[in-house]
Amino acid sequence: MSKIQSVKAREILDSRGTPTLEVEIETSEGIKARAAVPSGASTGAHEAIELRDKDPKRYLGKGVMKALNNVREICAPAVVGMNVRDWKEVDKKLLAADGTENKAKLGANAILGVSLACARAGALTEKQELFQFLGGTAATRLPVPLMNIINGGAHANNGIDIQEFMIVPTCGGSFREALRAGSEIFQTLKKILDEDGFSVAVGDEGGFAPKLKGNRAALEYVMKAIEKAGYKPGQDVSLALDVAATELFKDGKYTWEGKKISSEEVTDIYAGWAKDFPLVSVEDGLSEDDWEGWIHQTKTLGSKLQLVGDDLFVTNPKRLKDGISKKAANAILIKVNQIGSLSETLDAIKMAKAASFRTVMSHRSGETEDTTISDLAVAFDCEQIKTGSLCRGERTAKYNQLLRIEEALGAKGSYWGRKAFAGQV
Ligand code: PGA
Ligand code: ZN
Repeated sequence: MSKIQSVKAREILDSRGTPTLEVEIETSEGIKARAAVPSGASTGAHEAIELRDKDPKRYLGKGVMKALNNVREICAPAVVGMNVRDWKEVDKKLLAADGTENKAKLGANAILGVSLACARAGALTEKQELFQFLGGTAATRLPVPLMNIINGGAHANNGIDIQEFMIVPTCGGSFREALRAGSEIFQTLKKILDEDGFSVAVGDEGGFAPKLKGNRAALEYVMKAIEKAGYKPGQDVSLALDVAATELFKDGKYTWEGKKISSEEVTDIYAGWAKDFPLVSVEDGLSEDDWEGWIHQTKTLGSKLQLVGDDLFVTNPKRLKDGISKKAANAILIKVNQIGSLSETLDAIKMAKAASFRTVMSHRSGETEDTTISDLAVAFDCEQIKTGSLCRGERTAKYNQLLRIEEALGAKGSYWGRKAFAGQV
């Protein structure tokens, strides 16, 4: 039996230059594996706790030495000696060592780092790719990428309310061809924005962050780029949004382009856009606790649009269960650090699939070069993945890993493509 021999942690930098945790596991066979933890900016109130030092003398309070010490002093002694292939048992041990509902004691960052590093060490021990180790022979489908090419909201300072304007290349028959379409549209958008005198500097997730007139103007630019790049909107490439509406919500109203409007009015705006644009998906179209609004939105738009709960569900099986029974949303965003362990991430995906909710594996706006989510998307057969724009190394790292996975699968592999949006495209 290959055992966990040591668990180390280090403080590294994420893509925003903010500290995050990296965990490294060494096994009794001398195998070393590591995993880095991502971090959000528009975080949901119900996410598991990301432990930060709050020591203003280091990294403006954002150091992660407390979480690091929790890995060293509590997680490591708890899991050393365990079978490295038993990632689910390792997770159980970690959750028991924490003992809180929201991982407040050890920190979701500490637990997740160990959880992911263990899965990676297990895969290496079995001489398998991570997606094969976790998903077995059934793991053969490549997800459709939702590519965030215009950034606004909390990820940019351009005054646009909506956080992410995404393209959805369902065309091409393979992930590789879909990636090519995304890249060509991204480069075309850059050219068009530049010609019109807008900035082509990029936001946190690598999308452009031009100071456009408003949300609709951003949608129109994306449409122009799709067409100019030679693709058919709605047929080859569709549109998706992450409104991150929790950020717009205050005292029961949404601040929308300077006006205060109700959740029904926000829903009416999406209904209008769904007529005017090939829009297939709206994520966090309403705020995280606006359950009534979500129920209404799902009733009115759920047959036409994929409605994705991110802050609403925070990858938490308990909140998802609530959402399923209330018929709020019809899809879930999956972020490993929102819940803080691999096992619970898988639980959320299984629950979603059992309720015919679609699943979108996702990065965070603060990322690293770690590519675990690419493997998870294939291993757990998520129809879609959201991992940012077509530039910035921490984003392209995930796309490049999906290319490798597609290559490794060869003839056994397939692209989710249009099937990911059955009934819509
Ligand atoms: P975050 O943004 O990582 O800053 O939360 C991503 C998202 O909202 O989907
Ligand atoms: Zn989101």
